[in-house]
Amino acid sequence: MNHIRSTSAPVPFLDLATPHRELQPELMAVCRRALVEAAFIGGPMVEEFERAFARYCGTRYCVGVNSGTDALRFALVAAGVGSGDAVITVPNTFIATAEAISQTGATPVFVDIDEKTGNMDPGKLGEFLEQQCEFHQKTAKLVTLAQKLRVAAIVPVHLYGNPVDMDPVLELGRLYGLEVIEDACQAHGASYFSRNQQRWLKAGSMGRAAAFSFYPGKNLGACGDAGAVTTDDEFVAERIRMLRDHGQARKYEHSLIGYNGRLDAIQAGLLSVKLPRLDEWNRARREAAALYSRLFAASSAPVAVPTQLSNFQSVFHLYVIQAGDRAILQHDLEAAGVGTGIHYPVPVHLQAAYRDLGHKRGDYPCAEKAAERVLSLPMFPTLSESQQQRVVDAVCQSTQRAAVAAGAHDALRAA
Ligand SMILES: Cc1ncc(COP(=O)(O)O)c(C=O)c1O
Repeated sequence: MNHIRSTSAPVPFLDLATPHRELQPELMAVCRRALVEAAFIGGPMVEEFERAFARYCGTRYCVGVNSGTDALRFALVAAGVGSGDAVITVPNTFIATAEAISQTGATPVFVDIDEKTGNMDPGKLGEFLEQQCEFHQKTAKLVTLAQKLRVAAIVPVHLYGNPVDMDPVLELGRLYGLEVIEDACQAHGASYFSRNQQRWLKAGSMGRAAAFSFYPGKNLGACGDAGAVTTDDEFVAERIRMLRDHGQARKYEHSLIGYNGRLDAIQAGLLSVKLPRLDEWNRARREAAALYSRLFAASSAPVAVPTQLSNFQSVFHLYVIQAGDRAILQHDLEAAGVGTGIHYPVPVHLQAAYRDLGHKRGDYPCAEKAAERVLSLPMFPTLSESQQQRVVDAVCQSTQRAAVAAGAHDALRAA
């Protein structure tokens, strides 16, 4: 295999250092405050962040927890999901979406994605509910035909920062009496124009509750693990406050069997420093995404760029292209000093951890095709135009080289 050698500085996949350097005095002040106040878990810094993030998302409540996975698990448990239930989601997500469902005792059930958006296909969700479930009059429950599980909830995932088409998902949820819990772990600040409500809605404000991750590489990232649930529902918020803290309503009075899922004060304080910068960072990501797409459109590289629809405002947690020869392209980009990632190479239904669900290749063709073709390019707010040009040039060189090699191979076979 030929290698493209980079003659210029490498382009990292992610730059976590620059924003921390810029915000260092304020971030250090948070650590000093935590040491002085000696409130390390929960406390005023957590409450301040919860108020600010709820306001940012347009919800009444935000409850800080210690990861996105816990946020999703607690939101599902608080909404009444548990053992013997089925929860519908998509196979092309980080495995934590399915894990959180499994950790409640429920079973993840998948519907395929829309090839264009890469997100849950509401048409396929409707077909699943209509054709693969039945309503039991006696128990007033919707049950899956295959496993006889009560269908309890839908978890749409706003993948790569691009919102799901939520109007039809919410309508189906209402029609079938299902909870809708958003996985907004990659979508801080993304918004969706609801045709039903005739207004823009923020990711995390549309379902009964939503889960956010503040894993360091996220658009709003902590300096360690952190997460939050947003909701308008007082009961859900109160329940999650208990679930995150060993089920206690008051000190040593445990009404539920809960978890240790609290948010650290230092992480909450660091997130409060970063939150006012989030819109500016998201704008920079959107501009970088638009530039990538223009550069690819002007090139001859046979790659598909993310679809942009006018009623969806992505925050480009990731900029993901699709390419036929992904392995060669990734290899060439690495040789050219361009960092890339694959989100995600194996869809959840084909993961060994979910072998017991009995799925096989071919069950969710759109998600499987995406898993074979997706490649995430460098994306972060301080990505420069010249860095982006280098990335696109490297993609073009690799795909041209592959085309020449394929042509030579065909000529040899024909000779
Ligand atoms: C779509 C999605 N769901 C859930 C999670 C879990 O979040 P955490 O890693 O904070 O537990 C992530 C984090 O990467 C994610 O991307």
